[in-house]
Amino acid sequence: MMQTTTDWVTIRAQFRALSDWTYLNSATFGQVPQCAIEAVDRHWQRRDQLACGDFLSWYDDADRLRTAVASLIHASAEDIAFIGNTSTALALMVAGLDWRPGDNVVTLAHEFPNFLYLPALLEHQGVEFRETPWERFYESIDERTRLVALSQVNYSNGFRPPLEELSKFLRQRGVLLFVDGTQSVGALQFDVRKTQPDMLAVHGYKWLISPTGAGFVYVAKALRQRLSPREVGWRSHHTWREVDNLHHGVPEFKESAEKYESGGLPFPLLYAMEASVNLMLEIGPDVIERRVLELADAARKRMLQLGADAPETGSQIVSAKFPGVDPSDLARELKARHVLVAARHGHLRVSPHFYNTEEDLDRFTEELRALL
Ligand SMILES: Cc1ncc(COP(=O)(O)O)c(C=O)c1O
Repeated sequence: MMQTTTDWVTIRAQFRALSDWTYLNSATFGQVPQCAIEAVDRHWQRRDQLACGDFLSWYDDADRLRTAVASLIHASAEDIAFIGNTSTALALMVAGLDWRPGDNVVTLAHEFPNFLYLPALLEHQGVEFRETPWERFYESIDERTRLVALSQVNYSNGFRPPLEELSKFLRQRGVLLFVDGTQSVGALQFDVRKTQPDMLAVHGYKWLISPTGAGFVYVAKALRQRLSPREVGWRSHHTWREVDNLHHGVPEFKESAEKYESGGLPFPLLYAMEASVNLMLEIGPDVIERRVLELADAARKRMLQLGADAPETGSQIVSAKFPGVDPSDLARELKARHVLVAARHGHLRVSPHFYNTEEDLDRFTEELRALL
């Protein structure tokens, strides 16, 4: 751990785009560190040297990443399956429940479209979809609620619901909890032992500074026991490593979350993710959390000084409204000046990661002031 002496200058040098851009947009894409690119290069070199004759050992490497990812959220490797994106995990959850007409699923107002599009999967089964503001969230849950699905941090306004409290409320009523950690895990700490979600899905291309397509899902043991895989393939049978004699017949699944993977893994993406996750574990998730929250707070205060309405969110995503100004115009003008932020649903969204600095905020504020 480097907790007291984190060398942010050396760490920042891992991210090449930052030398050209004032980048405050990790809620859209995280920058991928040089060590991740080198890890992928090593994979290609190994393929050339060994002609893929060692491919089974790549799965051992993926298991090493499984353990690293598990340690990040205080889970065990058995709880983790790799996924290509979070909608895949949401579909796994939704498709595996035995819905009855009149059941309902509840999400938060202004959630990411993955949640808002759920009626496309559920309506034909007579399942009601409830999109509810936080102020009325608890009262919208009733005896027919089977599932609550929401993000740890909202993608557009940064809202961070009190998940531990919500989770406890749901557990007492036997309602399942699906959490999307794509806008938080890697920046904010997540402890599955405390929050106890039934499923936590994370696409790693934002705060886990990994390539798109590198993601994971945590599936709690109790849920695994009742949630069948929705896809089957050569890795579905528990002896899939015996590739000389793959099982023919109905697969017997492993107990671990690996049973949801079914087929080959995207190794280059996972090697990159491993290097990124290890970098973050080395810096320390608590150190990262402190830094991103400090930077976000500093960004918010600067925008308040420039006349913005920028509520506190408790997260590392800051959203601001400038009266009479279109945030899309602002984001476009800032981009022309090599400052990257985003416009989302009427807000200017600023999302610093640990690789950002106060100097980035200075530059952003300067350009913003000039535009306003
Ligand atoms: C909360 C949240 N989940 C997921 C995603 C990406 O969706 P997927 O993982 O299905 O590509 C985003 C992208 O902005 C997001 O904000």
